[in-house]
Amino acid sequence: MKTLLLACLLLISAQVLAEPFKSADLVAGKALLERNCISCHASSFGADGAAIYTREYRKVHTAKGLAAQVRNCNTMLGLKWFEDEELNVTGYLNKTYYKFTE
Ligand code: HEC
Repeated sequence: MKTLLLACLLLISAQVLAEPFKSADLVAGKALLERNCISCHASSFGADGAAIYTREYRKVHTAKGLAAQVRNCNTMLGLKWFEDEELNVTGYLNKTYYKFTE
């Protein structure tokens, strides 16, 4: 019984690690990103601007860093996103481009 419980706990924590922004609504995040963020990235990086996330010398290197960058942009641009909106965008960026697991 104890072993089973331990196994469950390990499984749960492994899943949390594998998906740092688990509760993000990715569809909502994609829409927010497209509406507020992409045109500017696209003007300097071409196409849909996604190269900014995958370029060799990108700035963001951790899940925490990604969350911080999204928060900075939100504040700088005066978008007044709520925390869940930041989370949705962060989750979408991570799932699609960065793929941090913790
Ligand atoms: C006015 C233009 C502009 C807008 C609008 C903008 N960005 Fe950016 N963003 C930039 C520039 C320029 C950089 C690169 C900064 C650098 O290289 O130092 C950047 C970098 C980033 C990065 C880091 C990329 C990396 O190197 O890993 C993320 C993530 C990001 N932006 C997210 C967002 C989000 C989310 C929004 C919408 C809330 C947004 N940006 C809106 C101009 C913009």
